[in-house]
Amino acid sequence: MTDDERAHWNERYREREPPTEPSDLLREWIDDLPEGRALDVATGGGRNAIFLAGHDYAVDAIDVSEEGLGIARERAEDRGLSERIEFVRSDVEDHDFPAAVYDVIVVSHYYSLNALPGFKRALAPGGVLLYEHRLHPPGDGSHTFRFRPNDLLRATLDLRVVRYEEPMEITEDATDIRLVARKD
Ligand SMILES: C[S@@+](CC[C@H](N)C(=O)[O-])C[C@H]1O[C@@H](n2cnc3c(N)ncnc32)[C@H](O)[C@@H]1O
Repeated sequence: MTDDERAHWNERYREREPPTEPSDLLREWIDDLPEGRALDVATGGGRNAIFLAGHDYAVDAIDVSEEGLGIARERAEDRGLSERIEFVRSDVEDHDFPAAVYDVIVVSHYYSLNALPGFKRALAPGGVLLYEHRLHPPGDGSHTFRFRPNDLLRATLDLRVVRYEEPMEITEDATDIRLVARKD
């Protein structure tokens, strides 16, 4: 992560209010997830971290943007949930995640194949990874931070993949991918 990239995210959070609703994937799976400790990777405005804290998880929420974390912290305080969330400003790409501690890890709209082994290591036995992002749209384009078809699936085959979805036809508008995988 370069200073320019961090500045980009800070600028974006100054200009635009990030979403407050949790991801549909997390909302859909929340009742099936193991209780305990959760990690929200690249938390942004904290929508998923706050949702998890509201469901009694002790949450670590990590992001590189101090502006995003500021918004997330304020939202958590407004909801009386700040004591359940540890906000960490750090670069996910070289963050040293503790091993085998998280019962749930959520990655929502953050691309990283490099950091993925660290997320998997950080899952406790029985822990569940929920990952949603976008595929590279058709054509060459310059979406550097998007997955190619099956990238995420291939990279998580050492977990038990209980759900994996890509669009039947990948178009500019249909690129969403969703993964739910458990560390047995
Ligand atoms: C598209 S936003 C998603 C935010 C949140 N997960 C959500 O779904 O609302 C991507 C987030 O990734 C963060 N980010 C980008 N690169 C990062 C890095 N190397 N380490 C930590 N956070 C990073 C940005 O600051 C931004 O908050």
